Amino acid sequence: MSFSFEEADEYAAAHSTPATDVLRRLGEETEAETDAPQMSVGALEGAFLRFLVALKRPQLVLELGVFTGWSSIEMAKALPPGGKIVACDVNPDTTAIARRYAEEEGVADRIDYRVGNAFETLETLDGPFDLVFIDAWKPDYVDYYEAVLPKLADDGVILADNTLSALAGNEGIATFNEHVMADERVECVLVPIRDGVTLIRRRP
Ligand SMILES: C[S@@+](CC[C@H](N)C(=O)[O-])C[C@H]1O[C@@H](n2cnc3c(N)ncnc32)[C@H](O)[C@@H]1O
Repeated sequence: MSFSFEEADEYAAAHSTPATDVLRRLGEETEAETDAPQMSVGALEGAFLRFLVALKRPQLVLELGVFTGWSSIEMAKALPPGGKIVACDVNPDTTAIARRYAEEEGVADRIDYRVGNAFETLETLDGPFDLVFIDAWKPDYVDYYEAVLPKLADDGVILADNTLSALAGNEGIATFNEHVMADERVECVLVPIRDGVTLIRRRP
């Protein structure tokens, strides 16, 4: 059996429920209007996040790194009644795009957008977070993780994005991956979807 990473990714995307029309348009606008559209999680990982939220049924989600909103919108769609996402990003322009598409998708009332440095925003939040999605500045992943872990619910889950990019020379991510592996407080699994998502929880 032999296939490339790209073939696996393409096949997985073709055999997963596709994005809604609203999210497809969000993808087109992100492509046309931003410098780094590849930052968006896109349809396959978006569907994966939506599934995780549907399974976990978190009341409080924290997202670090909103960009134009694909991941927060997908997660918001699967929240249980009363569930909420606090979504942090330093960029007001991309957050405005995210908010517009969240409104179109009918989930804006479940997302609390906080524009500012994620570390400063985090200081204002107590948690406990049932689910945290870390997808902001890669060199800061260890610091996001250490800031978030004390505010994680006992049975909470941290998802860290782009963790396979260590293989492409991303040193911040490589350091983060080693940090988590050496942390006896938690267990983790790196899922090779897109460029990798690591699922982390406290050791039972
Ligand atoms: C990879 S993108 C997020 C992609 C997003 N999850 C999606 O699905 O479209 C990273 C984002 O992190 C934001 N960011 C970087 N450093 C930050 C910080 N210290 N605080 C808050 N946001 C930050 C950037 O502005 C950028 O929008």
